[in-house]
Amino acid sequence: MIKNGAKVLVVGQGAREHALAWALSRSPHVAQVTVAPGNAGTLREPHVQNIPLTPIQVDAIAQYSEEEHMDLVVVGPEVPLVAGLVDRLDQLGIASVGPSSALAQLEGSKIHCKRFCEAHSIPTAPARIHTDLKEALKDIASRKEPIVVKASGLCAGKGVVVAETQDEAEAAARSLFSLPAAREGILVETCIQGWETSYIVLAHGTAYLAWPSAQDHKRLLSGNRGPNTGGMGALSPSPRMTPALENRIRESIIEPTLDAFVKAHTPYRGFLYAGIMVDAHGEPHLLEFNCRLGDPEAQALLFRLESDLYEMLETAARGNLKTYTSHWKRDPVLAVVLASPGYPGSSPTGVPISGLDGPEEPFVKIFHAATRSGPVAPLTDGGRVLSVTATGADIDTARQRVYARIEQIAFAGMQFRGDIGLVGIS
Ligand code: GLY
Repeated sequence: MIKNGAKVLVVGQGAREHALAWALSRSPHVAQVTVAPGNAGTLREPHVQNIPLTPIQVDAIAQYSEEEHMDLVVVGPEVPLVAGLVDRLDQLGIASVGPSSALAQLEGSKIHCKRFCEAHSIPTAPARIHTDLKEALKDIASRKEPIVVKASGLCAGKGVVVAETQDEAEAAARSLFSLPAAREGILVETCIQGWETSYIVLAHGTAYLAWPSAQDHKRLLSGNRGPNTGGMGALSPSPRMTPALENRIRESIIEPTLDAFVKAHTPYRGFLYAGIMVDAHGEPHLLEFNCRLGDPEAQALLFRLESDLYEMLETAARGNLKTYTSHWKRDPVLAVVLASPGYPGSSPTGVPISGLDGPEEPFVKIFHAATRSGPVAPLTDGGRVLSVTATGADIDTARQRVYARIEQIAFAGMQFRGDIGLVGIS
């Protein structure tokens, strides 16, 4: 029996967390959504409030959840998961969606993830692990380009370089070794060529609910050029996904992973997001695991969701997913990220944003990311500022709606990709 008048805490401050808070606040079971710390967009939603706690303040968030009698805590980003927020909530008996710190190492350490894949025969690119720069450079010199170089630790989506030349790969190794994320080492791996897709499931033990497929767009510039980012746009469903490919992903990647955790008596709970490369033979390979929803994939997916998100997450938290079925709108959804100048490097903050008061829903929704309230209009507060999200009977209609809405929005130096949803772009 799902409780009414529920209080939910969403941890995080991005567009993914705005989308989570928005979807949760629409549930008839939910009386109040609190976001820690949220942004100017979450503040504008009915029945949603912000509190000034940042995701890394895990003790303070756990204490707040206990004092405020939260019925459910939904953890958006990876950092508090790796830092043990869910472990603290479990100790306090507070229901939550997200894995323990030990299981979140699947995302927190790419070295751990690679070893896990090798141990459980999960298809992934062969890699060598290096803790010494000289050895890494020798390895790079022995390889054919393109070469993938990755820092092992968390890097907000910026710790992976797909180098087209030896020089680029060497420069990447030198620069990644200088980051705290390379404390444990770096990986140099074979570049699997193909097309990328995101595959996200909500799991508890071996039971899982597969969300619809989504396509991220990681490069900064149209035509998949420029540096990797946290993601500049998403499209759901992924246009090249097929039922046969979904089955392959489940059988070869998702199920062996969930089974391994159950066998180790540490059942996985929460979102498991597989970044997949599909090769020329149509075979999926795991690029990386994330222990959370993707951003911007979440914005597109949550805009497609027809089911009650609170019911779904509460069911997952309590471990009753086996009999749960979800419903999604058939129409495709696009999310386009509007970013500050300089992103994915450092960006100015405090820049006024205009054009946010136009019409929204049922076809268009603006999810805020790095924004804060200003005296007149919201202000930018970091790299990825907004995710403009739209749906339509087909991708072209959704594209027209999303880009027509973006034309009305402005802040100094705003950058975005113009090709999200174009056929053949991934
Ligand atoms: N969209 C990429 C990520 O969330 O890591």
